[in-house]
Amino acid sequence: MTLGAVRSEPVRIAILTGGGDCPGLNAVIRAVVRRASQRGVEVVGLRDGWAGLLKAQFLPLTRETTAGILHRGGTILGTSRVNPFKVPGGVEAVLRTMAEYQFAAVVAIGGEGTLSAASRLYADHGLPVVGIPKTIDNDLNGTDVTFGFDSAVAIATEAIDRLHSTAESHKRVLVCEVMGRHAGWIATYAGLAGGADVVLVPEVPADLARVAEHLKNRHSGGVDFSIVVVAEGTRVRAGPGDTEHLVTSGALDEAGRPRLGGVGAFVAAEIERRTGFETRVTVLGYLQRGGSPTAYDRVLASRFGVHACDMAIHGEFGRMAALQGSRVVSVSLADATRELKRVPQDFLDVARVFFG
Ligand code: F6P
Repeated sequence: MTLGAVRSEPVRIAILTGGGDCPGLNAVIRAVVRRASQRGVEVVGLRDGWAGLLKAQFLPLTRETTAGILHRGGTILGTSRVNPFKVPGGVEAVLRTMAEYQFAAVVAIGGEGTLSAASRLYADHGLPVVGIPKTIDNDLNGTDVTFGFDSAVAIATEAIDRLHSTAESHKRVLVCEVMGRHAGWIATYAGLAGGADVVLVPEVPADLARVAEHLKNRHSGGVDFSIVVVAEGTRVRAGPGDTEHLVTSGALDEAGRPRLGGVGAFVAAEIERRTGFETRVTVLGYLQRGGSPTAYDRVLASRFGVHACDMAIHGEFGRMAALQGSRVVSVSLADATRELKRVPQDFLDVARVFFG
């Protein structure tokens, strides 16, 4: 049944962006609004992710107010990691806002956290929700790619290219810390594209004694510089007898997860201690999430936005727009959020040909 078939007044859908910001969010917002306006559907933008539904904070979105945002980084709606299930009375507040303002559907644009909440709100409370997969980490299942990933890889690759200059000129080891909490997609792609010599990912705990041995062999073979890429969520151990651990700042984020960051410095110190090679670290951090999306991400985000708007209009709730091969399809949110998509072993094996 389509939304328009059961209502006589203009249909209104709400849209939100949750989790970490990501290149392409504004492109999706614009695409949903464009498609909705073509279909005679009103769109409102919820402020700061699920918090906008909890607090009934939103603004009307029109073709005019979303003009000129396609290429802009960030999200004009703001974002947060607020989870209605973790706020007392949160789910009731979400349902109350939906009913009070007659939102026929909500389009939730987010990663694992935002879409897991969407999946549960649909399954347990019948929330009419459609998901769109975004994250630079590319770790959502059900879709071959999330938008934002290509932009982050392009930024990280350019950074690795630039780090080569200093590594080669000063004969140093340069460690580049990239994002990737649970999966090493950015590290593997950017490492391959940038010609890194070692890539460390969350999928495989890193033994730094072995990394140091590898670098010593490489340098004794006549090369006097190296580039090491490490994803922030990589578990490390200094040597064979040590227990592997995550490097965190000690603080928790809004969602109660450990704030990552610092593994690059740990790896660099250990490499220098074990090899004697001068080793420096560069942390790319939020540079990977900021600025203009690549053309690929703009197109993918636009396709996702149009498809998700159609899904909302056709009442395809509890589902997510996804890229499979070259086609945009719809998959169940429950399936997409059941487990994370990690870099598969066969891909890591191919990458190891170049890193080993
Ligand atoms: O967007 C996902 C991500 O990039 C993760 O790799 C990282 O752990 C997280 O964002 C950090 O985001 P924040 O510092 O905004 O919580």
